[in-house]
Amino acid sequence: MSTINYSEKIPNNVNLVEDRTLQRALEQWQPNFIQWWDDVGPEGSTNHEVYLRTAVSVDPQGWAQFGHVKMRDYRWGIFLNPGDPNREIHFGDHKGEQAWQDVPGEHRANLRRIIVTQGDTEPASVEQQRHLGLTAPSIYDLRNLFQVNVEEGRHLWAMVYLLHRHFGRDGREEAEALLDRRSGDENNPRILGAFNEKTPDWLAFFMFTYFTDRDGKFQLSALAESAFDPLSRTTKFMLTEEAHHMFVGESGVSRVVQRTCQVMNELKTDDVAKLRAAGVIDLPTIQRYLNFHYSVTIDLFGADQSSNAATFYSSGLKGRFEEGKRTDDHLLKDQTYKVLEVVNGRLVEKDVPMLNALNEVLRDDFIKDSVAGVGRWNKVIEKAGIPFRLTVPHKAFHRNIGALAGIKMSPEGRVVSESEWQAKKDEWLPSDADRAFVASLMGRVVEPGKFAHWIAPPVMGINRQPVDFDYVRFG
Ligand SMILES: [Fe+2]
Ligand SMILES: [Fe+2]
Repeated sequence: MSTINYSEKIPNNVNLVEDRTLQRALEQWQPNFIQWWDDVGPEGSTNHEVYLRTAVSVDPQGWAQFGHVKMRDYRWGIFLNPGDPNREIHFGDHKGEQAWQDVPGEHRANLRRIIVTQGDTEPASVEQQRHLGLTAPSIYDLRNLFQVNVEEGRHLWAMVYLLHRHFGRDGREEAEALLDRRSGDENNPRILGAFNEKTPDWLAFFMFTYFTDRDGKFQLSALAESAFDPLSRTTKFMLTEEAHHMFVGESGVSRVVQRTCQVMNELKTDDVAKLRAAGVIDLPTIQRYLNFHYSVTIDLFGADQSSNAATFYSSGLKGRFEEGKRTDDHLLKDQTYKVLEVVNGRLVEKDVPMLNALNEVLRDDFIKDSVAGVGRWNKVIEKAGIPFRLTVPHKAFHRNIGALAGIKMSPEGRVVSESEWQAKKDEWLPSDADRAFVASLMGRVVEPGKFAHWIAPPVMGINRQPVDFDYVRFG
């Protein structure tokens, strides 16, 4: 079952051929997907041949095959990790029961909502990134952008398969709606806030793939625990693709930092104006971009106290990150967790029932994971002998969801007045001038092996190809 059948119109390892009705429904959705890709997918890319990896099996070893393909001809399909017929639900009220191969009626609405919310983020990020190809700092980076884009397209397929296969007519309607909503559209926006923000330049793209794709990792990991086995199996395979997206972000920011530090040392200065005149992105601006993307991303985990989160867990729909590695009772009924709230203008910790705080638990797991990469960026700065360190802001900084929304907070976690916020916000978040400066650096570099001035080349190429390989052939 793990081999992928590429002779079919829709590549899959789910024996689609045995379910004609489903196959026909998905074959009707397919041209609408291609139309969506043509309309709001990577701009001006139709004739490019891109060195992409395509899944050939879902085995952890050697699932990918590399070659130059036109993105429109990418074999988007349906790939689930192999199932375990004896798999048991291992958390919540159904703990110990057989995992579900179909959707129990009582959980249908919630499961549909979870799948639609996840599915909506996938095309949204493609829309957010659609103009970036026009200003790629190299064809190596251009190829990475396009790899991320086609895989987000495939993630949409993954969720659409579940909707079509398990949710009947409602599912088909939701699958259509996933192609109708548009990132940033006032009348028909994407579901979650961060997916309606612009990704206007490559520093924003690298921050997005580092932080926001990592939100994807944590959401998918929690869904990989689900009692609904098809959801678990499909998200497990999606996670193998997600790892590359975060690599693009982490190595991208690291290369920007490296180039800036190099020029700081050459010019022996940390003067922002001089560095900007020299064509690199000053470290304080990188810090402000980090503050923005981090804060917008941690909002994605939802309200710090949520009865939905409790329901999703207790009913077995969504577990915790690495549920299987935890040694508690996996029921969490009598446990508590600390969340933050503001009392008389000060942040205080408060114990709440853990089941209601599971969004916060996942957010805190995300924070631990994302701080590690920031440490690796700091190693680059340290190695250059420069006394500057990037930090993630306090988790109450610039929040728009939950108990911390609506209060003003400095990146260090001090509650500030509205007037202080107004006076300082351009020190804490990218200003219009910062964004205009970064935009001014963006230009298109298309010669193999050449890189824009503001970013260092990568240490090595993709799939052991040289750095100056022709990753994209322009048609
Ligand atoms: Fe994705
Ligand atoms: Fe991703």
